[in-house]
Amino acid sequence: MKLDIKSTGATFTPRKLADFLAEKIINEFDFDSTSHELKILDPACGDGELLLSISKKLNTFGISKFKTIGFDSNGKYVAESKKRLDLSSIQNKEIIQADFLQMSTGSDPQLEFNFGKSKTGDLKSFVDIIISNPPYVRTQILGSKKAKLLAKKFKLKGRVDLYYPFLISMTKSLKTGGILGVITSNRFLFTKSGESVRKFLIDNYEIIEVIDLGDTKLFDAAVLPAIFIGRKELKKTNGKLDKTKFLRIYEALNGSNRKQFYIESVFDVLNVTKDGIYNTATEHKKYKKIKEKIKKKKKKGETWTMLTNDEAKWTKKIESNSEYTIGDLFKVRVGIKTTADEVFIRKNWDELGNEKPERILLKELISQENIDRWRTHPNCKMKVLYPHDFKDGKKVVININKYPKARKYLEKYQEKLKSRKYLIAAGRNWFEIWVPQNPSYWKKPKLVFPDISSKPRFFLDVCGSIVNGNCYWIVNENNESIDPLLLIQGIANSNLMTKYHDLSFNNKLYSGRRRYFTQYVERYPFPKLDSIESQEIIQIVKELNIDSIDSTSIKVLEEELEIKVANAYGVKPISNPG
Ligand SMILES: C[S@@+](CC[C@H](N)C(=O)[O-])C[C@H]1O[C@@H](n2cnc3c(N)ncnc32)[C@H](O)[C@@H]1O
Repeated sequence: MKLDIKSTGATFTPRKLADFLAEKIINEFDFDSTSHELKILDPACGDGELLLSISKKLNTFGISKFKTIGFDSNGKYVAESKKRLDLSSIQNKEIIQADFLQMSTGSDPQLEFNFGKSKTGDLKSFVDIIISNPPYVRTQILGSKKAKLLAKKFKLKGRVDLYYPFLISMTKSLKTGGILGVITSNRFLFTKSGESVRKFLIDNYEIIEVIDLGDTKLFDAAVLPAIFIGRKELKKTNGKLDKTKFLRIYEALNGSNRKQFYIESVFDVLNVTKDGIYNTATEHKKYKKIKEKIKKKKKKGETWTMLTNDEAKWTKKIESNSEYTIGDLFKVRVGIKTTADEVFIRKNWDELGNEKPERILLKELISQENIDRWRTHPNCKMKVLYPHDFKDGKKVVININKYPKARKYLEKYQEKLKSRKYLIAAGRNWFEIWVPQNPSYWKKPKLVFPDISSKPRFFLDVCGSIVNGNCYWIVNENNESIDPLLLIQGIANSNLMTKYHDLSFNNKLYSGRRRYFTQYVERYPFPKLDSIESQEIIQIVKELNIDSIDSTSIKVLEEELEIKVANAYGVKPISNPG
């Protein structure tokens, strides 16, 4: 059932959230200029909760002339929502089993609806209100074939999630001036792959409100949700977002000097008006609620950032006191992907005794489990059996016959390794690592950092270790001085850059963990290398990187580092990034 949920994107909206969304939509809809029977659509209605909720709310508002229309591709859910709507007092309703995406592109000849089909077969704008929580299914789960097909059909760029085409199809079905209120994953707000969707929404809607529900766990979705409320544009507003209301609700993990309130449950946080920290009795958790402004960055590919005026001023100051971004000078790479970690990566190669592969092929591995800011964890050493080398300027695979022990070891897992069909199809040897990266770079000094971490852990490796696929790395390709890497290490590990990261990319996961995607880290701004402040940062980082340093000295030096980093950007030191 779990897999079913993951691949069909079926996680139903809880009633309180459905009621909240329904009320938001009703508050925005212009009932005064509509005299016809309203049509209300949920194109992926599941068990019908959203349709039930909006119907009840409309009744309470004294509106009775409306028809609810639901689609779902799953027959079981269609039956369930029919049953629930029949039991309610809703008179005018139609629940249809259909693939809404196919329908809205007109490519399913067997579907004949008596409403709203244009001559071309497309669903023309026929509804006044759309309330929906469409499926979110990422490319990895959709499969690349289906994702590519959807991207082509709906003119989307980059990695597609199933809710992207839903947003487009829903917009097609909505009348101009109609309201779309939708729950999706929050990823499109902040990721590069969400760029085409952001553009689409800006081009087609007056964006009324966006609510990032972050890690509030309002319902059992595998992703962090967001709510979007927009009016299908009557006239062009040139993509302006300055009137858009933006709310962010996240779990508050650290202490905060914001005002504290006590409230029943996380659902009630949705309805309160004041910013602050809300302590909830049901979940025994604290939630931070902040109203912000959406800033659309001009550069192509950049995300929307959502900041208060003070936060916007602060990030601007950081940017204007910078000379470069990391991406101007370095390429950020991801680590190796073996696609058979249990064969290639081990902590305990010695336990294999005589069967241990030749030492020369076993390389130290930095992985997210054994890395910290200024050192690796000595008790968590890992090695990777690395069957690649670099010869005459080229990446090559080793001659396995020259390493009989490694060959014997790998042959033991031959069946598993050969099951990697993509590797064989690519004309590669069965015992290779799928993504070995460039072996000539491993020897060089490099900064390594985990993809997911609650705090920044930018570590300088000068021992030639290999980097695992759960980390990224920045290598000094041209072998000049390592000072630029030390400067980046000091700044990237600071509270100041953590705050910049949170404000600019807003991508916290559950329990305050952050993503350190290439696309974010490449945009870290940093000051001139030869400024006095930068040189001071480099000196402190050199001391922090000394292996024998004790934890008290680390604390003192980190505090000093924070002050120097703040000086470098002309702002106050940050004691707690939040
Ligand atoms: C996230 S659930 C939400 C259900 C409901 N709207 C709610 O909020 O409780 C998504 C629903 O989309 C349905 N679905 C998935 N792909 C669909 C498609 N192509 N056309 C119509 N429904 C689809 C699933 O069966 C599931 O019921």
